[in-house]
Amino acid sequence: MNVLITGVSTGIGATTAELLLRSGHDVYGTVRKLGDADQLALHPAFSALVMDVTNRPSIVKAMATIKASGKPLHAVINNAGIAVPGPLETIAEEDYRKQFDVNVFGNLAVSQEALPLLHAAREAGETNVKIINVSSVSGYVTAPFTSLYSASKFAVEALTDGLRRELSPFGIDVLSVAPGPVKTPIWRKANTQTKAFEGTRYAGTLDKLSAYTEATEAGAIDPELVAGIIHDMLKSERPRPDRLVTKKNWIIRLLMLAPKRWQDKMFLKNMEANKRY
Ligand SMILES: NC(=O)c1ccc[n+]([C@@H]2O[C@H](COP(=O)([O-])OP(=O)(O)OC[C@H]3O[C@@H](n4cnc5c(N)ncnc54)[C@H](OP(=O)(O)O)[C@@H]3O)[C@@H](O)[C@H]2O)c1
Repeated sequence: MNVLITGVSTGIGATTAELLLRSGHDVYGTVRKLGDADQLALHPAFSALVMDVTNRPSIVKAMATIKASGKPLHAVINNAGIAVPGPLETIAEEDYRKQFDVNVFGNLAVSQEALPLLHAAREAGETNVKIINVSSVSGYVTAPFTSLYSASKFAVEALTDGLRRELSPFGIDVLSVAPGPVKTPIWRKANTQTKAFEGTRYAGTLDKLSAYTEATEAGAIDPELVAGIIHDMLKSERPRPDRLVTKKNWIIRLLMLAPKRWQDKMFLKNMEANKRY
């Protein structure tokens, strides 16, 4: 299969690219800086593409490169994403817009530009053509101070369900994989987002934030687990379209059924105990 993965410089994207290459797939991986894919470029079946998902011309150019290869594109893994934490009351407009620009509109733009290639693959008789969106457990439940990230992942869940229903007549499947905390640099990158807390009523929360991040990372799952599930979703002809990947999925499913006031208490208690999910 020929697969496009966005955001392969680190984390889930890099690990998924490595796994897919090891299992015989051809991988196009996007990075914002060309050197960030050097590790993967050692593999002959890997092609690096420079793309910023918030920059439409860079997406169009990447798709043109794939099209020019003459090979069908079987799947797109919309993995690129950022986390912009902060209190909803104080988070700056440019920051909350960036959260949505990357995670939501970037995701949609990549799908839109890839779809002509995916339709062409189907029309040429290829099977198992799909889009996999890397969502999050934050697309199912909302923890305080990462609410905007959550809002973006709820939106990714809606894009996934909507697009799947719109594309099913054309034989293109659209799926979401929703991990809980994963051992990747994402939360450390997000830790620079301190100005929403500093000098506000939420300054006390900032003091706790790095301990919270460390505790989250320590209890996180390995990216190999998520990569393995993406690998299986690609292979399967009828995978579950909403795939949670946490240590105990049943807790999340149960939490979603719990009354909202009960959920509030659990989140506040977890916050005090430096625990995420
Ligand atoms: N780690 C977790 O706990 C967790 C849990 C659930 C879901 N997820 C989701 O998993 C996905 C991957 O995250 P990760 O944890 O592996 O984090 P990561 O290691 O920080 O990887 C994120 C990737 O996205 C790229 N990226 C960021 N902004 C971009 C943009 N504007 N255009 C193109 N690429 C961009 C990054 O590139 P640069 O290196 O250039 O920044 C990087 O390659 C994200 O969608 C995230 O929301 C993560």
